[in-house]
Parts: sequence; structure tokens; C-alpha cells
Amino acid sequence: MSKKHSSHVIGIDIGGTGIKGGIVDLGKGKLVGERFRIDTPQPATPQSVAKAVAEVVDELMTRPEAPAADSPVGITFPAIISHGIALSAANVDKSWINADVDAIFTAELGRRVEVVNDADAAGLAEARYGAGEDVDGTVLVITLGTGIGSAFIFNGKLVPNVELGHLEIDGVDAETKASAVARERDGIDWDEYAVRLQRYFSHVEFLFSPELFIVGGGISKRSEDFLPQLRLRAPIVPAKLKNDAGIVGGALEAAIHFKLAK
Ligand code: BGC
Repeated sequence: MSKKHSSHVIGIDIGGTGIKGGIVDLGKGKLVGERFRIDTPQPATPQSVAKAVAEVVDELMTRPEAPAADSPVGITFPAIISHGIALSAANVDKSWINADVDAIFTAELGRRVEVVNDADAAGLAEARYGAGEDVDGTVLVITLGTGIGSAFIFNGKLVPNVELGHLEIDGVDAETKASAVARERDGIDWDEYAVRLQRYFSHVEFLFSPELFIVGGGISKRSEDFLPQLRLRAPIVPAKLKNDAGIVGGALEAAIHFKLAK
């Protein structure tokens, strides 16, 4: 790989409504310059999403801070990703199930990519640069958004594809009650939402006894409205990287995978 901005890697975060990308400085764990966002195409099929991702990468590559053209791109995706293949599609187009996401994006971008679950990416970023920095033992990063995403970090290392949003609690899939979208859909206030979150986090704490919970997703901006009401053994804190965690974690995962970083 050429030396141009060698600590910079592009990260792309694919969500149900937007595809966001940025150039990440891996030394600092921060974006260099503004993020670039476009709407997720509808229907969000593999081909249409791949084209949109290419558009975001093209824009970022026109910038003076852009990494070398042969550097890998880290891409997050909201599904189980095993060896580059999507094995679930809870909140995305069902045509993604069993799609080789890695191969589709590699072909479209014409460069190396590493695909990682969206919550896993956010978790990695928080563990390395954010609220979980230097915390030993088990750290659980839970993202509250359209669904519930989760990242299991042990001694700073990610255990991938832990799907704690789909724990069955009181007979239902937990994310259908306790995600940020479930709160909006049901029109409940913060106090009622905190009751649902208490039920959810107590159960997760009973199962895993983490040292720390980190709460991510757009709703973490409003953490003052619900986190102080939760009673758990472990501390529970908002994510530090906020909306950039996915982009930063995606880029970090690509750098680790292709041995540009540890
Ligand atoms: C999916 C996870 C994803 C989470 C957040 C869940 O429904 O199963 O893979 O990380 O939503 O997007």
C-alpha cells in the first residue's frame, strides 16, 4: 500500500435510512473533515446499496486527506456478518440473506473491503477510543436504534456477532419493545421507556455480568432522559463517539483485518 496518509482509512456505515462515510484518522480515532451522507436507496437491495456506497467512497476520495487508492475500506452492515456473508436481515431488505456482502462491495468498489456488523463496529470504536478505553473484562455496547444492536468486548477484543437485541424476553423479541424505534412507535414517554430498558438491561446483566454497559445509537444523545433511572450493578454510560462510532469502528476493523493496525 502506498504511504499517502497511511493512518487514514475510509469507514462507511450502512443504516436503514442513511449511508454515512468518513475518512478516519486511526491514530486519533476521529474523522478527518466532515462526514458524507446519502439516503439509503429504496428498496435497499444489494445492487442499489453497493452503488450508493461507491458514491460515498468516490466523494471521500476527491478530498486532499483521502487515503491511498489501494487502501481497504471498512463497511458496517446491520446484520450478522460471517466470513463476509449476511446471515440475517431483521431490519433490512430480505434479499440480503446469504448475500456475499464482501464480494458485492469488493466488485463495486474495485478495492479491498472488510464488512462488519454495525453494532460490532460501534463497540470496537468505543472500546479503543471511547467510553470503554482501558476497561478490562466484559464490556457490552448496546445500540438502541431501529433495532437493538450489541457488541461483546472482552479485554478490548471483540467477540463478533453477538445478537442480544433478539433475546426473547416476556415472550417477545427484545428489540420490538426496547429499541428507540419501538419507543417512538408506541408513543411512550421517557419514564415508560426506562421501565422497558430496566427489564432489558437487568436480564442482559444477569446473563453476562459485564463490568460496564455502553449505550449507543442516535438516542444516546438523550441519555440524560433515561440512563439515570436505570438500576444495575454495572455502570451504564452513553457512547462517547456518538454518531461517528460506526464509521470509526468500520475503518478500524478494516485496518485490523488487513494488518495495518492491531
Ligand atoms: C440486527 C443486528 C444489528 C442491530 C442494529 C438487529 O436487528 O439483528 O445485526 O446489529 O439490529 O442495527
